[in-house]
Amino acid sequence: MKLRFASSGVPVWKAKNLLLALLTLLATNVFAQKNIIIPIESKDNALVLQVGEDKRVGIIYFGKKLQNTAEYQHIPGMYKRGDDYSGVLNAAYTSAGSRNLVEPAIQVTHADGNTSLALLYVSHQVQKENDNVSTTSILLKDPVYNFDVTLYYKVYNKENVVEQWSAIRNNEKDSVTLHKYASANLYLSAEDYWLGHYHGDWAKEMQPEEERLTAGIKVLDSKLGTRANLYQPPTFMVSLDKPATEEEGSVLYGSLEWTGNFKFDLEVDPLNNLRIIAGINPFASDYALAPAQEFKTPPFVYTFSDKGKGEATRNMHSWARKCKILNGTGSRLTLLNNWEATYFDFNEPKLTELIEATKKLGVDMFLLDDGWFANKYPRNSDRAGLGDWQENVKKLPHGIGYLVKQAKKNGVKFGIWVEPEMVNPKSELYEQHPDWVIRQPNRPEHLYRNQLVLDLSNPEVQDHVFGVLDRILTENPGVAFFKWDCNAVIYNANSAYLSKQSHLYVEYVRGFYKVLERFRAKYPNLPMMLCSGGGGRVDYGALQYFTEFWVSDNTDPLERIFMQWEYSYFFPAIAQDNHVTDWGKQPLKFRTDVAMMGKLGFDIVVSKLGKEDLKFAQDAVDTYESFSDVVWHGDLFRLVNPQKNDFASLMYVDDAQSKAIMFNYLVSNRYGAGSLSPVKLGGLKPDKKYRIKEINLYPGTKSTLANDAVYSGNYLMTIGINPDVNARRASVILEITEAK
Ligand code: GLA
Repeated sequence: MKLRFASSGVPVWKAKNLLLALLTLLATNVFAQKNIIIPIESKDNALVLQVGEDKRVGIIYFGKKLQNTAEYQHIPGMYKRGDDYSGVLNAAYTSAGSRNLVEPAIQVTHADGNTSLALLYVSHQVQKENDNVSTTSILLKDPVYNFDVTLYYKVYNKENVVEQWSAIRNNEKDSVTLHKYASANLYLSAEDYWLGHYHGDWAKEMQPEEERLTAGIKVLDSKLGTRANLYQPPTFMVSLDKPATEEEGSVLYGSLEWTGNFKFDLEVDPLNNLRIIAGINPFASDYALAPAQEFKTPPFVYTFSDKGKGEATRNMHSWARKCKILNGTGSRLTLLNNWEATYFDFNEPKLTELIEATKKLGVDMFLLDDGWFANKYPRNSDRAGLGDWQENVKKLPHGIGYLVKQAKKNGVKFGIWVEPEMVNPKSELYEQHPDWVIRQPNRPEHLYRNQLVLDLSNPEVQDHVFGVLDRILTENPGVAFFKWDCNAVIYNANSAYLSKQSHLYVEYVRGFYKVLERFRAKYPNLPMMLCSGGGGRVDYGALQYFTEFWVSDNTDPLERIFMQWEYSYFFPAIAQDNHVTDWGKQPLKFRTDVAMMGKLGFDIVVSKLGKEDLKFAQDAVDTYESFSDVVWHGDLFRLVNPQKNDFASLMYVDDAQSKAIMFNYLVSNRYGAGSLSPVKLGGLKPDKKYRIKEINLYPGTKSTLANDAVYSGNYLMTIGINPDVNARRASVILEITEAK
C-alpha cells in the first residue's frame, strides 16, 4: 500500500480519489510548504524531519518516540545553543557548494562544471510492505539543476531498526560527477557523545575503544578495498550523554551494508549536536553519473535504545535473523574442518580418515579447506595455484566426487573452501588473464599473502568467479557448503577494464554482489561461510548472501571470549562460526564451551584425542544439539563483561522464556579469581520457576552446584545465581529450563 503526502502531511492518495490527490499535488507546487512534519517512527523510536518554509528538509528530533506526534514541532525551540548561520546544520541530506559550512553528505560537479547543490523538498510517500515494514521516501530536487535525490527510510517497526539509503538521479544533459554520496545523514542532540568503535589486524579482530567525541570530526573509514575488517569493521555505536551500560542509557548502533570502502564522519557541530554521515568512502572514488542514470547507495542500518546496549543488541539481532542474514531463522551445520589438522598436506586416504572422524565425532559435515586444487602450480602452500580450480590430481586422483561419496557413505555432508576473487601470480589463471588482475601497469606488484585481487568490475571476471562455484556444484551436486575466503587487500588499485579508475572501488563491490545475486538465484539455500583471512569481512551487505561468518583465525579460546563478546553487540550467534582448535593452553572442555556460544565446529585431529577427550567431544556435540536452537534464535543477555571482570557471563533465552543457556568463562589467572557473587540473569519471566543444571561436564567430574535446583525467575533476575567459576572450574555452562 502506498500513501502519498504533499503540503499538509496528511495522506491524500487513495485510488478512489484520484482527483483530490491531483489537486493536492498541484497545491504542493503552487503554495509554499509550511512546516510539514515527517515522523519516521518505529515501535519505540522516532526520527523526525521537518520541511521548512524554504522547502529545506531538516532533522528536528532523533530518539524515543513521543506519544503525541503534534508535539515534535516544539522540540527545536527548546534548544538555545546558539545560531546556525547557515540554517542547514540539521539537514536531512547535507549538500555541498551552496550555503552549507560543514561536512556534506553529497558533493557534486554538474554537467556544466558548476559545483553547487541545493536539495529542496518536492514530495514524500510511505510504502507499506507488510504490517511490520514500511518505507518513507522523500524526493528532493535542486531548484536550478535537473538533479534529484530520494531519501529512503525503511522502518522495521517491532525491531526498532531503520535502513536508510539514498538514490541520486542525474537528469542533466551530460555526466555529473559525484564526489561524495553518503547513504545516511543523522543529527542527534545530547550533552555528550561517546563513540564505541573497533580496530584490529589479522588474528586481532574487534579490539574495542570508547571515547568522548569533542568538537570537530572523528572519521572511521576503510580504504582496503576488500577486507575492511582487517583494520576496522563498518560498525559503531554512539551513547548519548554518558556511556551506556547493558541495561541503561541511550545508544545508537550503526552499520553500513557495504563490503568495501566505507566512511563515517562523526562531527560535533558548533551547536554541540552530533552530525553523522555514513556511506561509501569517497576516497579516490569520484563517480561519473551518466544522464538518466541513478546511483543507489547501500543501506546504513541503525537501531536506537534508551534502555542500554543489551536492548540495542537484541533489536539488531532480531532484525538480522529475520530480515537480513541468509536463512537467519533456520539451522546451521556443525562441522569438522581440516585446515589446522592438515594445512596443505593431505591426500585422499588422509581425507577419507577425516571424513570417518567427522562421523565419529557426530558433527554434520566435513569441510575440506585450502590446498585441494591446481596442477601446473600445485597448491601445496599459499605461494602458488590460487586461481586454478581443478582438483589436484596427485592429492585427489578421483576428484571431489569421490570425497562427496565418502561423506555420503559415512552419513555426513561435504563442504569445500574456495577463494574465487583472488589469484597467485604463480598460476595458470594469471598467465592466461593478466588483464583480469588489479594492479598498476607501471609499478611493481605488491602482494598480500602472495596473491593479488581479480578485477570484479569486469563482467568476464564475474563470470569466472560465478563459474568456479557453479562448476563445483554442477559436477558434484552433493557439495553442501562453501567457505568463501578473501585474503588479500587491494594494492595498486587499477583496472584494465574500466575507463574511469575512480569507479573501481565501487564497481568491485557491485561486481561481488552481482556474482552473489546470480549464485543465489541458482542456489538460494546452500549454506556459505563468509571468511576473509579470519574475520576480515563482516558486514550486513555480504551477510544477506551468507549464512555465517568466520570470526577470526585466532581461535585461542581466551582471545575468542573477548572477540565473540564484541561481535555479539552487532551480530547474532547463529552467524558466528567458532571452531575448537589446538590454539591456546586451555583444556578441551574450555575450548569447546567457548566455541558453543556461536555455531560450533572443530578443527582438530580427532584420532589424536585421548579416550576421555573423545568421549567429552562426542557428548558435547549431542549437548550442543540439545540447546543450539536457543543459542541460534534466542535473545542474548550479556551479564558479566570480561573487559571489566575476572570472568565473562552471558545467556541466551528462547522466545517462550522457558529455556535458557548460560555460558561462564574465567578470563583471569589471578589468585582467587572467579565468580565471587551471584550473577543476575536476564530475559526470564519473574513468575515462572526454573530448574538449573550444569551441563557439558567433563567425564568423571561433578558439578559443584546444587543438583537440579529450582528458583523463580524473580529470584534469578533479582539475586541471581553463582555459577561457581574459578580456576578449577574455568568454564561452566548452565541449562535453565522452566520447571512445570
Ligand atoms: C584463511 C582462513 C583460514 C584458512 C586459510 C586457508 O586464512 O581464514 O581459515 O581457510 O585461509 O588458506
